[in-house]
Amino acid sequence: MLSLTINGGEYASRAEVGDTLAETLREELGLTGTKIACGAGHCGACTVLLDGVPTLSCITLAHTVGGRAVTTIEGLREHPLVDAFVRTDAVQCGFCTPGQIVSASALVAANPSPSPDEIRHAMAGNLCRCGTYPRIEEAIATWRD
Ligand code: FES
Ligand code: FES
Repeated sequence: MLSLTINGGEYASRAEVGDTLAETLREELGLTGTKIACGAGHCGACTVLLDGVPTLSCITLAHTVGGRAVTTIEGLREHPLVDAFVRTDAVQCGFCTPGQIVSASALVAANPSPSPDEIRHAMAGNLCRCGTYPRIEEAIATWRD
């Protein structure tokens, strides 16, 4: 049995060696806010935080997480970024949105007033097929409004 610390709670997982963190979160633990799109480390849809660091959960094996704290989008329900994404209409299909917000939360934790270039640099690993990038940038720039 694998022990995982997720959003401040302790979870017992039956993840087998080779199971990814993304699969474990979604299929075993019911934390389906984390999305899987490419499944190969290219798009950022599966981003979670490991000890505050954005991490692609689709290419992270559950058994390598160890004692690090996992934060998923479910753990960020109260984060002002959620309202900012809604207020700025930064969501179209919404599939990329959990990963965008998770990555943005790490950015604003380290740098509460990021410049446009800093936002683009920090968010470069999160793709949006709907092309909402200008609104995502606006949401992050105005996250405390
Ligand atoms: S689903 Fe993980 S990077 Fe695309
Ligand atoms: S809102 Fe559709 S992929 Fe980003």
